[in-house]
Amino acid sequence: MIKKAEFITSNTDYRQCPPGNKPEVAFIGRSNVGKSSLINMLTQKKKLAKTSGTPGKTQLINHFEIDDRWYMVDLPGYGFAKVSKTLRANWEKMIKGYLTNRENLLATFVLIDSRLEPQKIDIEFIHWCGHQGVPVVLVFTKADKLTKSKVQDNVDKFIAAMEEIFEEAPEFFVTSAEKKQGKEELTAFIEENIEEFYQEN
Ligand code: GTP
Ligand code: MG
Repeated sequence: MIKKAEFITSNTDYRQCPPGNKPEVAFIGRSNVGKSSLINMLTQKKKLAKTSGTPGKTQLINHFEIDDRWYMVDLPGYGFAKVSKTLRANWEKMIKGYLTNRENLLATFVLIDSRLEPQKIDIEFIHWCGHQGVPVVLVFTKADKLTKSKVQDNVDKFIAAMEEIFEEAPEFFVTSAEKKQGKEELTAFIEENIEEFYQEN
């Protein structure tokens, strides 16, 4: 269970992020998929990470310290159509630099909108992660917005698409920030990873 969560810093460059002596997990995915909302749900703090109905809200690498022991990192989303080429290139540099160089990064949660059938942009991003050796865990978001069976359909399709790329599909969770679905499972999973890190380091 998470007891304490506080904002530490926002950065554009992984080299300026807090010292990597504590482990961290990061949240990435399309703009508006619910990354910041998920962080607020997990930490039980409604306004810890800034959310918005308009895509493109989170623009920087945001570190939140959890229980004085690890970090949750909120990242800006991809796939937001209304950005210039320069901004997109900056995003690539910032995010890809962060994901491939941050040594204390234990897991990257790639959020997928559970309302949609598999999207090329998500598959391509996950493919890139696999290629770079960035460890991915999937989180299907906004499960409150459609029926359980429709969510299951989309999850099944996405996992099938993953099995075409990887020998084994990544682990996954189904969540709703609105209904607090998946909170216990996801928190337990992260905390287990954090404990393992401390046992090994
Ligand atoms: P960027 O920072 O712009 O990349 O977006 P984000 O991925 O951080 O999304 P954010 O958490 O800001 O949420 C985007 C919108 O989706 C907001 O209007 C949220 O209220 C809504 N939202 C997020 N999660 C859920 C959910 O589980 N259920 C429902 N119904 N709405 C959600
Ligand atoms: Mg955000």
